[in-house]
Amino acid sequence: MTTHHKLLFALFALLLTSQVTLATTETWDLEIAYTGNLNGELEPCGCTAEGDLGGITRRATVIEQIRTANPDAFIISAGGLLGANEASEQIKNRFIVEGMKQINYDAIGVQWRDLIYGNAFLSNSKLPWVWSNRSDQQFPKNKLIERGGRKVAFFAWYDPEKEKNSAALEAAMQQAKSAGAITILASGQRLKKAKKLFSFESIDILLVKARGEPYGEPQMVGKTLVLQPGSRGMYMAQLKLNLDQNNHITKFDHQTYAIPSTVADAPQLKQWYDDYNDAVKVDFKRRAEIAKKRLTGTSPYTGITICSACHQQQHEIWKQSEHAKAYEDLIMADKAFDPACVVCHTVGFNKEGGFIDHPLTPELANVQCESCHGAGRKHAESKGEMATTNHTWKREEICAQCHYHEHSPSFDIDSYWKKIAHPTDKTEHLRPPSRKGSDYR
Ligand code: HEC
Ligand code: HEC
Ligand code: HEC
Ligand code: HEC
Repeated sequence: MTTHHKLLFALFALLLTSQVTLATTETWDLEIAYTGNLNGELEPCGCTAEGDLGGITRRATVIEQIRTANPDAFIISAGGLLGANEASEQIKNRFIVEGMKQINYDAIGVQWRDLIYGNAFLSNSKLPWVWSNRSDQQFPKNKLIERGGRKVAFFAWYDPEKEKNSAALEAAMQQAKSAGAITILASGQRLKKAKKLFSFESIDILLVKARGEPYGEPQMVGKTLVLQPGSRGMYMAQLKLNLDQNNHITKFDHQTYAIPSTVADAPQLKQWYDDYNDAVKVDFKRRAEIAKKRLTGTSPYTGITICSACHQQQHEIWKQSEHAKAYEDLIMADKAFDPACVVCHTVGFNKEGGFIDHPLTPELANVQCESCHGAGRKHAESKGEMATTNHTWKREEICAQCHYHEHSPSFDIDSYWKKIAHPTDKTEHLRPPSRKGSDYR
């Protein structure tokens, strides 16, 4: 993405955000800001401007702004905060919990993925977790929040397989409504399934299952307002309500907006973010030590200098490509020590004989020939007699190791290949005499 594009995008994102402040001339009875799954996305990777949305430090700023504009706003989360990879995301998950604490949510639903380290981890985390259909007493079954003369009762009902009978939930919601609260149920279900599970009688607001990143359009089902939160923390939504004397919704205003890099990082989370980076750095060094001890014998990777001895033409083309500065870009982002980034910006990270860190394996920094063609020592030492490791892979498969999801949202094989294309039919002349004309691939 060019600087020009980035500027345009930032401007566009700014327009989206400013809409929220423009549309607030009306008076509302109740305001709720809500977020959906975070799925372990503590921060966006920043690989592309389109994908550079969300992150806890920016979210804290947005929520602070909402609270400043209206101190009576309720802030809730449908849960699903943690990353699913128990071992490799341990540090990140710990920091997500700490960061969310500083944002001061009113209530957060417990989803299965949040239980990755068991009940104790969550209940010790001191976040306002709610899990309505859990028979043990680990989590509150609901949370009543009173503010600005209004009451909100938050319920979270995940895992219907375990406890199919929703009668107790309905009774509790009915009770909350009779006591003058507006009821919110985070269900984690598709609307169709939710209709089978619950009578909507005492549900004022129903949060259904997140379906990808953006938030869904809200809809009224009878007297219930159905909302579909987004996932991965890239967007936020703000809901403003007018209510009748039975606390039924008479009117609402719903705004969804992206959280782009034009949103400043919250200063109160600076220390937290620095601590996070320090912790992953320490962990990175620890892993490097282990890898060093394991490093015996010769690596199956050679690094590009060896390849270019026979493939000068490919090397010349590669030098001009973005791949040749992939590691430098990580250094610029101060992320050359984060395993979650290094894996796609170097050769063979986490693999035997692959990149460890820059001082130990400088020859394997950047996206190189062997990132795509696979470990090439045997091929090089056999002077091309032995095919490269990935010689049977399709072009698309090669790119898909790294160009996916938010890391490369506008990836398109034809236009991208054009930018890095190197001769594909010119190796015949290199072929050893024994293999001339043979069906090598
Ligand atoms: C000593 C010379 C030499 C070196 C060093 C060398 N190659 Fe080759 N390479 C060849 C020859 C010869 C062929 C042609 C083989 C054929 O087409 O029959 C070839 C073909 C290839 C091909 C196409 C066929 C295949 O097996 O996929 C790729 C890709 C390739 N080389 C990548 C690399 C990479 C990556 C490196 C560094 C790890 C490397 N080469 C190092 C000589 C070399
Ligand atoms: C799954 C592989 C993958 C991971 C993991 C990954 N990246 Fe990237 N990164 C890419 C790809 C692919 C691109 C090129 C995207 C494009 O232009 O389509 C890229 C591009 C970048 C760029 C260049 C942006 C520019 O404007 O030139 C930076 C900086 C970057 N990544 C930083 C990071 C950081 C920091 C992390 C970790 C938080 C990370 N990457 C994790 C694959 C990855
Ligand atoms: C970003 C991935 C990528 C990188 C980096 C890369 N290549 Fe390739 N290369 C490919 C793909 C994909 C093809 C096959 C194109 C096709 O589908 O025909 C290819 C084709 C080749 C071929 C021709 C294969 C044939 O069939 O004749 C050679 C030789 C080669 N690459 C060598 C290299 C060398 C040497 C480097 C490093 C200087 C390098 N490549 C870097 C992806 C890459
Ligand atoms: C090992 C991971 C990896 C693989 C495999 C990979 N790339 Fe990349 N690619 C990256 C990274 C990282 C960047 C960003 C480099 C930077 O700017 O820092 C990138 C950038 C690019 C860019 C520049 C994008 C721009 O904004 O101009 C193109 C084009 C590209 N890749 C094409 C390909 C193609 C085509 C393939 C498959 C043949 C491929 N890449 C395979 C990691 C990879």
